[in-house]
Amino acid sequence: MEKRKIIIFDTTLRDGEQSPGASLTTGEKLVVAHQLARLGVDVIEAGFPIASEGDFDAVKLVAQSVHGPSICGLARANNADIDRCWEAVKYSKKPRIHTFIATSKVHREKKLQKSKEEIIELAVQAVQRAKGYCDDVEFSPEDAARTSLDYMCAVVKAAIEAGATTINIPDTVGYAEPREFGDRIRYLFKKVPEAGNVVISVHCHNDLGNAVANSLAAVEAGATQVEGCINGIGERAGNASLEEIIMNLVTRRDYFNVDVNVNTREIYRTSRLVANLTGIDVQRNKAIVGVNAFAHEAGIHQHGVLQSKQTYEIMTPDDVGWTGENLVIGKHSGKHAVAALLEEEGFRLDKETVAQITERVKDLADKEKFVERDDIIAIARDVTHQLTEEEQFVKLEEFSVVTGSNMTPTASVKLRVYDEVKIAAGLGDGPVDAVSNAIWQLIDPSLKLQDYHLKAITGGTDALADVSIKLMDEKMNVFIARAVDEDVIRASARAIIKGINKALNYREKIQAQG
Ligand code: KIV
Ligand code: ZN
Repeated sequence: MEKRKIIIFDTTLRDGEQSPGASLTTGEKLVVAHQLARLGVDVIEAGFPIASEGDFDAVKLVAQSVHGPSICGLARANNADIDRCWEAVKYSKKPRIHTFIATSKVHREKKLQKSKEEIIELAVQAVQRAKGYCDDVEFSPEDAARTSLDYMCAVVKAAIEAGATTINIPDTVGYAEPREFGDRIRYLFKKVPEAGNVVISVHCHNDLGNAVANSLAAVEAGATQVEGCINGIGERAGNASLEEIIMNLVTRRDYFNVDVNVNTREIYRTSRLVANLTGIDVQRNKAIVGVNAFAHEAGIHQHGVLQSKQTYEIMTPDDVGWTGENLVIGKHSGKHAVAALLEEEGFRLDKETVAQITERVKDLADKEKFVERDDIIAIARDVTHQLTEEEQFVKLEEFSVVTGSNMTPTASVKLRVYDEVKIAAGLGDGPVDAVSNAIWQLIDPSLKLQDYHLKAITGGTDALADVSIKLMDEKMNVFIARAVDEDVIRASARAIIKGINKALNYREKIQAQG
């Protein structure tokens, strides 16, 4: 007998990207989306198109260039959101609009100030409007897990009648317990027989640490789609970890009796890529993708595994594509070694980019004793996210800083701003502050530096510095930029200039659109 197929819906680029500090550039989102397609997820939720121009562009680009999965965009239950969402997803061969409205008492009364009837009406109108654009429409009653069962069923029934093809039941605040959540899904199937004709999905947050358990309980209760994020990233405590759900369904196929279409051998690479690009590390003992997930330290375990792997291993590293960190890079390593290492980390790069990265790795190897894996990843990130020549309205020509134990650090910078050379000086609390103040003498003051974050890539005083900054313009648009360099001041200046260029590019684009 054919097994029930579980649809794997990835929202790393939408809900996951909402994690504090996870923000990805459009190019980075595209790289992740291609890797998700290789992993074989069924649906990619690529963003929330009305949220910003950047989100819109990313969803559109993913829809245009990533083939295989359905490409979905999120929209609140109103015309403007749905129209904008369609404008972005329509380029996909398999577009999906996902619309939602909150249904729990607290959300209805405090957030929306709408009656139960008004919310059903808005849900129906939203589904109908989305249906006017495409067949594949998903509807979510937000905060469903805290919505009274009968009202949730009434909303779902109305949404199905309006044409929704997928109904997603979210545990928005991670409140549910596994048995209770499974029972909610059972109740839905019993009270709304039409639910059997559409896909019933679940979307669980991890505030109480139950997101994966709740998703699996829902599958047992008959749900046929699960939503989650790679590495479990997402707002607050995150979303259900997609790789954990997948490996539960695959490893315990005997128990769940379902099928998934995923190529599990791409899991590790996908996890590394998401961690590398978002900067959100995976805890060592994280199930499936933590570095300790397949390590056997205890003597008794090692002995057992040597006799037979099955004594202590329920899945093999190979099953998730974990090959170990086999590659060591040194001064004499060439581009093939660099490309292979980066491929282990989920990057698939063209020859020219690999050559550029290799050059910088060699420069670093000349100066430092060791080049570590994380250094190479940081360089790769830096190189892959350079702005093109045309995108660089501002260029850093030179800078110098004078500092000492009894003096205020003083910096001077020379910038090329729209082809005009400009020089300024600045004082600061430290050398980075002084350079930043000098740069700001020459730049439009409506751009403000909101956040500055410095991370040393590997230990030691000669570590590579990884600087990320956040700028905000007068319309509250946020621009994030990052730069990696052996010199912390240069990394900081480069990151600030990159952020300024991103903001100026955005301004030009908006002006060009009239
Ligand atoms: O958590 C949530 O409720 C959501 C919805 C938009 C599905 O992310
Ligand atoms: Zn969510």
